[in-house]
Amino acid sequence: MYNNWEELEEAIKDCNKCKLCRGRRNIVFGTGNKEAELMLIGEGPGADEDIQGLPFVGKAGQLMNKAFIGLGINREEVYIANIVKCRPPNNRDPEQEEAMACIDYLRNQVMLVKPKVIILLGRIALNNILGTEYKITASRGKVIEKKGITYIPTWHPAALLRDETKKIDFWNDLKLALNILKK
Ligand code: URA
Ligand code: SF4
Repeated sequence: MYNNWEELEEAIKDCNKCKLCRGRRNIVFGTGNKEAELMLIGEGPGADEDIQGLPFVGKAGQLMNKAFIGLGINREEVYIANIVKCRPPNNRDPEQEEAMACIDYLRNQVMLVKPKVIILLGRIALNNILGTEYKITASRGKVIEKKGITYIPTWHPAALLRDETKKIDFWNDLKLALNILKK
């Protein structure tokens, strides 16, 4: 673990710890306020993220931005990162081996940001952070406390694109996070 952002960013720069390094254009490290109270964790970069080197800038990200605006969340005020930092080919799920190779970077980011609340976006984030015993359907919208951090699992924004009825859950889960932060 690195105690500062410079060393962490330097360490990941040419990372080839897993095979996802072969297909990437850019490492998508993470973005936002490095002292954020609210952090959001996704799965991994898609095509747009790979090109721009930034998380959640494609269709799913734009939908998430709309929810942010509606709820008065400033995207620059939160911190956004992913389980894997390089794009899985054809947007497949990251494999266990790849997530394991990459997750220390994310844990280091969490250690440096020190968020109060972490929103886990979808099954991959939930299972890699809290464990495979958690099911996304049963866990979403629940408040899970662990080691001084409050976790709230919710749908992945891409799931909202496939199923509009999930939007209200997503909105409520973000609102729940904001309410916890207000306390
Ligand atoms: N989906 C993710 O999980 N992360 C991104 O950064 C973009 C889409
Ligand atoms: Fe390294 Fe993570 Fe990219 Fe794999 S996904 S090459 S571990 S930065």
